[in-house]
Amino acid sequence: LKFEGYPHVLKSQQFSRKWVEKVLFPLSDKISNLLKKKNRDKLRNLLKNKTMVSLFASESSRTRASHEIGFNLMGGKVAFTSASANISSAMGKGESFEDTVKLFDQYHCDLIVARNDSAEQMPIDSIARGIRTPIINAGDGAGKDKQHPTQALLDIYTIYKHLGKMDNLRIAVIGDLKNGRTVRSLCYLLAKWRIKHIYLVSPLKLKVSADIKSYLRRHNIKFSEHCDIRKIAPKVNVFYQTRTQTNLGSPKMSRSKTNKSKEFTIINKEVLNLCSKSKNSIIMHPLPCLEEITRNEVDKDPRSVYFESKTSVPSQLKCGLITRMAIMLLMLNPKKAKAILKS
Ligand code: CP
Repeated sequence: LKFEGYPHVLKSQQFSRKWVEKVLFPLSDKISNLLKKKNRDKLRNLLKNKTMVSLFASESSRTRASHEIGFNLMGGKVAFTSASANISSAMGKGESFEDTVKLFDQYHCDLIVARNDSAEQMPIDSIARGIRTPIINAGDGAGKDKQHPTQALLDIYTIYKHLGKMDNLRIAVIGDLKNGRTVRSLCYLLAKWRIKHIYLVSPLKLKVSADIKSYLRRHNIKFSEHCDIRKIAPKVNVFYQTRTQTNLGSPKMSRSKTNKSKEFTIINKEVLNLCSKSKNSIIMHPLPCLEEITRNEVDKDPRSVYFESKTSVPSQLKCGLITRMAIMLLMLNPKKAKAILKS
């Protein structure tokens, strides 16, 4: 039950389809069951005596909370956490992100979960080469090579749980495809399955970069680019909407809500009415959600799974806690993970 690829979680490409389907998904199912109130005691010793550092040099709610709460639920100790490492760690005095990560490597912690959006700091995968402590890339900057791999893993678990498969799906990835790291990580991971078609839907200023397109071509994944979601909506199984990443350098722009505009990338009632009402489609969003989904029209739709699920299958948000707990257990206590899988 070796953790695949690295001691670290750095990018989607490090995970194989086999590992995801045979290890991560079944263990996540078990964790989901153990999270029920009556079973929760069984989680408490899984990471006993393990310590985690939670180093977020930029904003996060879901990623930070799901790692910290998940680690605590499994009996581990979050030894250092920073609401904003730029303020409450010595990074506020100008210390580099690299030095900050490296100091924790010498303090015998068992896991570092790190996010950094600044292009001036050394990327997390480069820092990871010089440290022994396992590190989870919890979101690293914008643009080429930048990723958020645990988000992609939780995203495909969500798709798998709600639609029962990955192969032969038609998936629309929508929004800021230029700077969105969740999109980048998801595209790299989706290429491991026999996806029928990926629709890349974005405003013209936020089109996907060439490296993702060449990766999809190399993996024989059919894709097409669009700027109006209404043109392809009837064919789509998975709508994966994303916000404009103004914090990562994308221009603030209105994603038109008018019928006349050539660029139309919001999800609203009009889009819902165009697409299949069958159980074969879902609407996802990594969150936080701003104006790119008209919430009062879409939240209550049975196909929307980003915040609340309308069935017993966990929402995308909840899948984040479940899969991250599975990932941390596999990294830090593979023996226990194996025992849970066999139980
Ligand atoms: N999806 C996501 O990464 O959310 P946070 O920024 O709240 O962690």
